[in-house]
Amino acid sequence: MLREIVKYPDPVLERPGEPVTEFDEELAKLVDDMFESMYAAKGIGLAAPQIGLSKRLTVIDLSFKEKQEDRIVLINPEIISREGKQYEEEGCLSVPEIREKVSRAAKVRVRAQDLKGKWFEMEGEELLARAFQHEIDHLDGILFFRRVSALKRDLILRKIRKMQRAGEW
Ligand code: NI
Repeated sequence: MLREIVKYPDPVLERPGEPVTEFDEELAKLVDDMFESMYAAKGIGLAAPQIGLSKRLTVIDLSFKEKQEDRIVLINPEIISREGKQYEEEGCLSVPEIREKVSRAAKVRVRAQDLKGKWFEMEGEELLARAFQHEIDHLDGILFFRRVSALKRDLILRKIRKMQRAGEW
């Protein structure tokens, strides 16, 4: 089932998510819905707060292929190590049409639970490392434009307000 993707300034986007505690059929269905909604929106990552659910859950598929092995599901994830730096452009389905360069670690190691509640670790570099950091930020209520300079953030917020006034947001 397609879920509606909420946009900034919906308050759910800036609130830390609650840990997932039930690893049941309902959770599996929610994850399927999240992949479906992410593909429909042409995204490579989607976090539960983006469909209005304040939960620590995110899905990622960098290859945008609907192949099971490319799908990453992170439940209650945390970053356990960071290395290096990268500075690349990011966008977000909840902040459409806005792109800005964000400074991130080049390589991160993540610890998370799978759909059955089992803990696992995964490493990501470059784009995957950025997706991990961007999506886990969502679970902490942090949107990517909170991580740019005050000057750039003001420009972004002004652009959003302008689109809101024009009825384009
Ligand atoms: Ni995002």
